[in-house]
Amino acid sequence: MSITSKQSRVTVRSLQAMKERGEKIVMLTAYDASFAAILEAAGVDVILVGDSLSNVIQGHDSTLPVTMEDVLYHTRAVARASRQSLLMADMPFMSYWSVEVALQNAARLLKEAGAQAVKLEWTQAQPDIVAALSREGIPVCAHLGLRPQAVHKTGGYQVQGRDKETATELLIQAQRVESAGADMLLLEAIPAPLAADITQRVRIPVIGIGAGVACDGQVLVLYDVLGISAGPAPRFAKNFLQQSGSVEAAVKSYVQAVKAGIFPAAEHTYQK
Ligand code: KIV
Repeated sequence: MSITSKQSRVTVRSLQAMKERGEKIVMLTAYDASFAAILEAAGVDVILVGDSLSNVIQGHDSTLPVTMEDVLYHTRAVARASRQSLLMADMPFMSYWSVEVALQNAARLLKEAGAQAVKLEWTQAQPDIVAALSREGIPVCAHLGLRPQAVHKTGGYQVQGRDKETATELLIQAQRVESAGADMLLLEAIPAPLAADITQRVRIPVIGIGAGVACDGQVLVLYDVLGISAGPAPRFAKNFLQQSGSVEAAVKSYVQAVKAGIFPAAEHTYQK
């Protein structure tokens, strides 16, 4: 590609511009080329190869067993069908425990698999890691709130930030994410008013899952959108296939609902 040719792929800079214009960002997971092609055609802005592949593809009961090789394999498959969406790959549990290890693994996701951004679950030890990735030109999305990789420490998948103390702490951490140089923030399972406050206070795009409609964008696990996840669906999930009749129409309906600001509705949201 010449440096003067038109850049048609979504980038973290175009997502930033969308936030500034008040245009909703649509993110959805995919793990293979066939579904990725459907997401591309429907106009999904960001395709996430989530470590949720552990649950929905591999049948595990948590995201912890997923390896770098697993995420590389699925990211390569998605990359073959991806032309315009930004392709983001999740960093597996313990693949970013030091700056050096994080740099090596994130670089593999970009160089070997074709991702254009990585996502990692944020802890207080993360600023150095995010800053190092950012210095090397690797776009980063930090995942805050409910962190599935910490399930054995937290004792389950609970809504976060429900009391004043933990809500304040989440706001502080969101501001640290931004100061560390992250390009995006993902908030999972937190009360909608708190997510709205965080979205207003940080300049980077905020993507919500179970965090209310005021976030700059939304993400769901594709299998929840298609109503084929094993076990009971979380409150924030919606089966779009039921009302659509085809996989393509279901994904389009999710995209339209997010763009129009009508998903998530109150029934998919935690108020406190
Ligand atoms: O792995 C995943 O699918 C995720 C979602 C919760 C966004 O991180």
